[in-house]
Amino acid sequence: MKLFTNKKQLQTEIRKFNNISFVPTMGALHRGHESIIRKSVKGSGKTLVSIFVNPKQFNNKKDLKTYPRNNKNDIKILKKLKVDYLYKPSYDDIYKFKTEKKIYLDRFAKELCGKHRKDHFKGVIDVVNRFLEIIGPKTIILGNKDFQQLYLIKKHIKKNKIKTKVLACKTIRDKYFIAYSSRLNKLNYVEKIKLIRVIKFLKRYKGNLLSKKQTFNFNEIKKKIISMGVNKVDYIKLIDLRTLKRPRKNKFNLFYAFYIGKVRLIDNF
Ligand code: PAF
Repeated sequence: MKLFTNKKQLQTEIRKFNNISFVPTMGALHRGHESIIRKSVKGSGKTLVSIFVNPKQFNNKKDLKTYPRNNKNDIKILKKLKVDYLYKPSYDDIYKFKTEKKIYLDRFAKELCGKHRKDHFKGVIDVVNRFLEIIGPKTIILGNKDFQQLYLIKKHIKKNKIKTKVLACKTIRDKYFIAYSSRLNKLNYVEKIKLIRVIKFLKRYKGNLLSKKQTFNFNEIKKKIISMGVNKVDYIKLIDLRTLKRPRKNKFNLFYAFYIGKVRLIDNF
């Protein structure tokens, strides 16, 4: 695996390839990332992974400061997975140039996390747009866990007629149905136990909705999961993935964002 911290050097190296498959990450790699990277490495092109904890997508300084970082383990994982290139840029390498394309934010940026994390998606699209301009990949691969991000990146790419193809990877879960996430590293033992119980409840609740044993009641769910140790609920919503609206048919994903301790967790299933 070749490591680059400078975009000029990276570009000189990858210029000869027109089949770069790009996996953007913020490091603290886990099994979710691993599955995305595996999908990329299995493809016919070269795999380029980036690790950049992007300050512009954090609406809270403390969250940025305490975001999990684990460089040594990340490198070990990337080497094990036979990644071709790792790009680990500095802030200036990413932000000190003028982009060709303008950030396009679809309306969906105002929903869900967009209502609770000011400018978060603007920061995500900004950095992804910059990576796309630097790398010019054939494909970009992202996880479905961050469905809203994935959707907004697709919209930005389409609107700007960028040639990169977007591939989505299914969410990888542990035996308790918890989606792997870098932020899980921040939970202590007691918080992890609380999360296991909450997820078990939400999964059963969704099953009851599908089998019509229950109708959706936000306040009821909120009360219940707070009694189980959740600190704060940003949202719990049912969404039809095709319309991005409240479901009319019995087909939907349950989206949530809540805090356990100081850790904000999101998922959809
Ligand atoms: O999902 C993430 O880790 C980040 O939002 C991304 C896509 C790497 C942009 O910083």
